Formats: sequence, C-alpha cells, structure tokens
Amino acid sequence: MAKVKTTFFCQNCGAQYSKWQGQCTACKEWNTIAEEVIQKAEKSDWKTPTSASKRVSKPLLINEIDASQEARMATNDQEFNRVLGGGIVPGSLILLGGEPGIGKSTLLLQIALKLPYKTLYVSGEESQKQIKMRAERINPSSSNCYILTETKTQNIFKQIEALEPDIIVIDSIQTLHSDYIESSSGSISQIKECTTELIKFAKETSTPVILIGHITKDGNIAGPKILEHMVDTVLQFEGDRNHVFRILRANKNRFGSTNELGIYEMQGSGLREVSNPSEILISKKDDELSGNAVAATLEGMRPLMIEVQALVSTAVYGTPQRSATGFNAKRLNMLLAVLEKRAGFRLGAKDVFLNITGGITVDDPAIDLAVVAAILSSNEDVALQKDFCFAAEVGLSGEIRPVQRVEQRILEAEKLGFSTIFVSKYNKISLKKTVIKIQLISKIEDLVGFVV
Ligand code: TYD
Ligand code: MG
Repeated sequence: MAKVKTTFFCQNCGAQYSKWQGQCTACKEWNTIAEEVIQKAEKSDWKTPTSASKRVSKPLLINEIDASQEARMATNDQEFNRVLGGGIVPGSLILLGGEPGIGKSTLLLQIALKLPYKTLYVSGEESQKQIKMRAERINPSSSNCYILTETKTQNIFKQIEALEPDIIVIDSIQTLHSDYIESSSGSISQIKECTTELIKFAKETSTPVILIGHITKDGNIAGPKILEHMVDTVLQFEGDRNHVFRILRANKNRFGSTNELGIYEMQGSGLREVSNPSEILISKKDDELSGNAVAATLEGMRPLMIEVQALVSTAVYGTPQRSATGFNAKRLNMLLAVLEKRAGFRLGAKDVFLNITGGITVDDPAIDLAVVAAILSSNEDVALQKDFCFAAEVGLSGEIRPVQRVEQRILEAEKLGFSTIFVSKYNKISLKKTVIKIQLISKIEDLVGFVV
C-alpha cells in the first residue's frame, strides 16, 4: 500500500511545514498548525491538462496582443459594476469575502438572477428548494439562472461541461471538495486544490468564476490568506449585522481600482442599491440636539456625509469611561487630550461616548473635526447649528490639518443643503462661487468660538 502523504499547514496563513510545531513562524499565531493528508489520486480532471500543458506559449509584442475579447460583462447591479471597475472580466476569478450572515449569498444570487448571461449558481450550503425560496423573495422572474447543489469539484465540472454556462458562482469555496486530496472540506489543502482547479478552468475557457469565502472573526478570509494571492479580485462585503447598510469594497483588483465602493441596504426583499448614501445617513431632525455634528468624509472615492454623536457626562465611577463605536478609541483619547491641553476643556473627569450613526466604521481622518465639535457641543450642552458640517484632521498641537479632495467634500455638502463647512485654512481650494460658506480655521480654538 502506498504510503499516505501528509503535510502540516497553518490554518491561519496557509504556510506549509514538514512537521508539527507550536507556533507558525510565518504569521506568529499559536496552535494553528494542523496535519492534512495530501495524497493525490490519478489525475484526470474535467479536461486532461496534457493537451494544455503541451501547448507552449510564445512571447508576443505587446502591441500585437488582442485585448478586445476582454470586454467586460456588465451586471444589472450598478454598485457591483462600479466596485469591479465596470463589470466582470471574462476568465477572471473573483472572491467575495464576508462574515457569516452578512448577505453574501443574497448579493450574488440577486446578481445571478438578473444577469443577462447563462449563469450557474453552485451551492454547497443550501438545497435547491431553499435557494428557490430565497430567489422568490428577491426576484421571482429569471430564466437564465441554473442552480446546482454539489460540493465535489469533479461533479461540478461535469455539469459545467454539459451546461456550458457564461458565469459561475460558487457558494462557498469552503464547502468544496476535490477527490485528488484526502483532507476534509475547508482545510487549507482542499481550498488550495479546488481554487487551483477553478482557476485553470476559468483561464482556459474564459468563463468568470465568483467564489464566496467566509471570513474569520479577525477579518481573514477563513484560514487561507493564500486564496487572496491566487484570485484576480478580492471583494469584501462588510457592515454591521444589526444595521441595514452593507458596504462592498475591493481589497485587490487586477482589472480596476480599489478605491471604489458599493453601498447596499438590506431589505425584506434582498439588497437594494443605495446611490445617494449621504441623504440616508443623516437624520433630518427639526429639533437641534446637542452632541451631534456632521462630517464630510470620503469612503474610497465617494463623498459621504456622516453624523457623529457624542455624549459627555460627569463620571459616575472613579475612572471615567471612554467608548467609541465606529471610530478608533485611541484616536478619541488623543482628541480628548488635545481638547484638554490646547483648548482648556477639563474632560479628564468626564465619561465620553462617541457613536457614528448608521453602523458604519470610519477611517477617514477628516472626521476628526466633527468628532471634536460633537464633544464640545455635548460638553457645553449647546446644539450646533444643524446646517454646519466639518471636514478636517486635528493634529496633536491642536492645529487643523488639510484633508485630501476637499473640493469634492464641499460640493457634496453644498448639494445636500448645508450652509457652512469648516475646513482647514491650509487646504488649497480653487472653487469659485459656492453657495455654501467655506469657513477656514487653523487652530482648535477657532472652532470653539463658532460652536459654543
Ligand atoms: P445570507 O445571504 O444568507 O448571508 P451569508 O451568505 O453572507 O451568510 O443573508 C443572511 C441575512 O440576510 C439573513 O440573516 C436574513 C437577511 N435577509 C434579508 O434581510 N432579506 C432578504 O431578502 C434576504 C434574502 C436575507
Ligand atoms: Mg451564505
């Protein structure tokens, strides 16, 4: 009997070892290395690769290469097209990652149902009936979408050969299983093998394949970081499960920029594209409330007006509490220290709570000024004028720093009817004749005069 061949893989980063060890030397994680059987059976997959591997490719002058067949396949989903850079590139492998329950299956089924191409949706997680039930909630009329429930890649390729679809969706890569590898589904070697088979298929037939991949708690695409290197495009679907907004972004894109962003709203009947997110994120209240401020931020290339809420109150316990939702807690502490030192507000003995509404997490430093304004407003219990908005970074010495693409932010604020936007004096603005008042400030003390 042939000897069983095994290797050890780190389940976190996919590094390979010849024997077990406690810590992965590549990603420094402990107890992530597990043994996997990688003994291979005789290979005879969907098309024996002999014909393909004998074909020797020749160097071509770059001007002679015909790129016309690379025309993109546009979907009916404008947000999805935008994030991909215009549509699906034939022969590309797209990986859609996201936490369980965020809506990955819903998004791809919804897109598959509306595609003007023959689509095969392969599910290893749900039965055909369950998918049909979901499809009926979303969009009952579709004639081009086939559903297959199968987890063995060899069987999937057999069905693909018979059906010849234009686009394939795999839900999810962690459920796939190839006969050539003995380890269980979801293990590193299985995922690697199944993806390799799919890549080979995609490249040889120019059929795009979209894979769904689950994400672990720390944000990695479960286990195999290696998947990210293998595919052409890595999309991430994120958001807070308790909120309705979902953000689709590209972490890697061989055929487009990674700056674009798609925004969806989860509804009873699937995901709805949100084309003007700012209007939804800002609550239109008649009463002026203290502790609220609006920031003109950028998510990728899109301007997004976001509401910041702060609550400052006298600490009940000895150690004041500081908590931030949707904003970096360390940055909040830094801004509080700046307010204390540079503007003389005694916040050291106060509880400070900060919340970005809509369940969104913001990294854009331009939100700093709105955070400071919201804290000041709550501390003094004075409401800000509700048609004020802010776009600037705050430095350690209390200086108001310029932010990128300030003009785009100003125009978005103007479009939404804000009367005044506060920006840094050091931003170069060449806009002429704006309806919105552009208030230039250079120090945090300047802001204090306006808001309290
Ligand atoms: P799902 O696509 O199954 O998530 P994933 O594939 O990422 O694990 O979506 C799960 C959630 O979406 C589920 O909790 C219910 C919600 N949902 C809606 O709110 N409306 C809908 O029309 C559908 C289909 C799902
Ligand atoms: Mg799913």
